[in-house]
Amino acid sequence: MKKNMTSAKLIQKKIAGEKISALTAYDASFAGVFSDQNVDVLLIGDSLGMVLQGNDSTLPVTIDDICYHTRCVKAGNNGSLIIADMPFMTYSTPESTWINAGKLMQAGANMVKLEGGKWLLESIKGLTQRGIPVCAHLGLTPQSVNVFGGYKVQGREQEQADLMIEEALALEAAGAQLLVVECIPASLAKRLSEALTIPTIGIGAGVHCDGQILVMHDLLGISTGYIPKFSKNYMTLTGDIHKAIAAYVEEVSSGTFPGPEHSFE
Ligand code: KIV
Repeated sequence: MKKNMTSAKLIQKKIAGEKISALTAYDASFAGVFSDQNVDVLLIGDSLGMVLQGNDSTLPVTIDDICYHTRCVKAGNNGSLIIADMPFMTYSTPESTWINAGKLMQAGANMVKLEGGKWLLESIKGLTQRGIPVCAHLGLTPQSVNVFGGYKVQGREQEQADLMIEEALALEAAGAQLLVVECIPASLAKRLSEALTIPTIGIGAGVHCDGQILVMHDLLGISTGYIPKFSKNYMTLTGDIHKAIAAYVEEVSSGTFPGPEHSFE
């Protein structure tokens, strides 16, 4: 049955203490399976640059790539909230942010996601004023891999952790309706989730987030090369795509996933 997930319903889930399930999706067929299995949020992630295009980072992904895959996901979706990633350098100024985010909304997104902290405040205010809901993204923001010097856990130092809380609160005040936190200590994710009214969606951020997201290829065990510690292959457990997704949704809802072995401290 069509459920039409909205950002308001996600906030209701947080208030009710119900966990939010999210997955990346890039095409109509998987979007259909995921939404039929009650995955709340589908993200057209710029991770497609790695898992679909075979690049070693997300940097080569273009706005046209994300628009194309957003149209595909929209065509197969059955009521999940669709978030589209803004690719590298498509939101480097407020004006370019608004124009490129508009393209993603016209392609079928319900919300756009941007990586970064306080430097995005004007852009986020402007998006919200223009009717475009925003998901922020803090912690390990993969578009900054060259600044970080690799895919490393962020927020381990007290000062860095305090700054992340400050930035998250500023992003929320600017209008962000959701926050993805990637590869941060579980204790920091807990502090963030308690400090914010908006839901946190974690990947490699421990069980205390308000929801979880995984790259679909990791969940289905078809990622090649490096398999991150925080991911879990549900195909080896179930042997069937539909059952694998159902198991993921159930484990997120019950708080079974992620376990301590998928988390950082
Ligand atoms: O691009 C992506 O898939 C993401 C998730 C890992 C959160 O940003």
